[in-house]
Amino acid sequence: MTTFEDLKTFISSQNIRVIIAADAETVVLEKKDGQVSQRLLSGGVSVVLDPLAKASSAVYIGRSKTEDEKEIVGKGETKIEGDRGSYILKRVYLENGEFDNYYNGFSNQTLWPLCHVAFENPAFHRLWYEGYVSVNKKFAESIKNEIKGDTFIWVNDYQLCLVPKFLNRPKNAVIGFFWHIPWPTWEAFRILPQKKEIIESLLMCDFIGFHRGYQARNFIETVRREFEVRVEEETSKIYYKGHVTTVKSLPLGIDTDVVSDIAKRDKKEGTLEILIKKILRTDEERKNESPYIEYFRKYKVILGVDRLDYTKGLLLRLDALDRFFENNKKYIGKAIYLGLMAPSRDTIPSYKALKDAVEEEAEKINKKYGKNGWRPIHLIYQTFSREEIVDFYLHASLCLVTPRDDGMNLVSKEFVMAASFSKNPGMLVLSQFAGSATDLSQALIVNPYDKSEVVNAIRRGLEMKREEKVRRTRAMAKVLEENNVYKWGVDFFQNTIEARQPQR
Ligand code: F6P
Repeated sequence: MTTFEDLKTFISSQNIRVIIAADAETVVLEKKDGQVSQRLLSGGVSVVLDPLAKASSAVYIGRSKTEDEKEIVGKGETKIEGDRGSYILKRVYLENGEFDNYYNGFSNQTLWPLCHVAFENPAFHRLWYEGYVSVNKKFAESIKNEIKGDTFIWVNDYQLCLVPKFLNRPKNAVIGFFWHIPWPTWEAFRILPQKKEIIESLLMCDFIGFHRGYQARNFIETVRREFEVRVEEETSKIYYKGHVTTVKSLPLGIDTDVVSDIAKRDKKEGTLEILIKKILRTDEERKNESPYIEYFRKYKVILGVDRLDYTKGLLLRLDALDRFFENNKKYIGKAIYLGLMAPSRDTIPSYKALKDAVEEEAEKINKKYGKNGWRPIHLIYQTFSREEIVDFYLHASLCLVTPRDDGMNLVSKEFVMAASFSKNPGMLVLSQFAGSATDLSQALIVNPYDKSEVVNAIRRGLEMKREEKVRRTRAMAKVLEENNVYKWGVDFFQNTIEARQPQR
């Protein structure tokens, strides 16, 4: 098993300065009543990048998320310290309108729907692209200011496609790009008006990583169809205008150490208790005080943990739950669905519309089956800390991760890891369209569009013998431990450095 120390040793043996550039920052600064506080994010890719930044003592360039930060740190930097290491966090600030065009516009209403097969139409506006160009330029400038001696530049995800172009192959630097979302087929990608500029920029990297083989293959095919390139099949090297880019799939793993530590800790009654008291209590229960854990004993809790995003298949999931209660009356009054939905991109019309549609659907199902104070669907629209989420994972009877399309999906991996510490683990029902389905093959794998398949999997998961759940969950946890985030980190650094070496 690769450890944090292995990654650290590997980086220091390379004698290279590491710069990580990502749309999200890892720590958000907020000011309340004159006091500055630091808020750690509990989900998303930046959570994974935080330990990697620590292991490599990196300079992390992120996009500022709060107005307060401009005032607190301005052009300065924040030192992020932890038990295992530290790194410097610098921020790129966006001007009025830039956020809308770069983030809400081109990143999340053009590229995001274009790359996910979720049947959401991408929108194309020149102004969005201009905003995206100017923010990518800003990132590139910040990176350039940090290049000193041999430097490793890690450009993270689809929000920063044009950064390699604006870096313009700096001397003594090696560039690795990781693309976390799916890459669609050429037939889908070719409609993007700015496709050539984006692909040419990506081809200025030494290495491009994707989570799964089909995503890497789609990328190579897109490049082949759009440009005169030579592709060396054996090594996945693309030769274009005298430069070589290696393309590979490197599936992202989770920080199994952190999830295991939290899962093993003694839990204090906290958010989970308050939440359960609020949502599961019937009038009768209210009279008889009982610890919150009783509610997990009394009801089978089917859990969903997602960003509120149309790619996550939330409406298909609710539809399947409706059918589940219809076909399995014995679960009425006995099981509930607890959907934790993290607010996301909530000023984009399609995200607002989805929230309304999900709430409406939940209401319909609750009206149909609810009785004696019991309701089948409970939706909570807020974010939770990592500790709280792991607590939910430990107690749930089942977890539904049913995206229409997903580059990887870390919820499914963290759920399995946490559940492996439970005496009676919950079972995972996982969409075959999540990148993680390849790693988590012992889960109940479903096509989220096939309602009866999902309904059967929910029932099967709830009724599976404890021994079988333990066996499957432990087998998957072993795979997760062996392919953790540190292995991914070493693989990414190593592959990028090796990709560059022949040209030095
Ligand atoms: O995995 C894709 C991704 O966009 C990441 O880059 C990001 O961490 C996550 O999804 C959440 O998206 P957002 O930062 O837009 O809320």
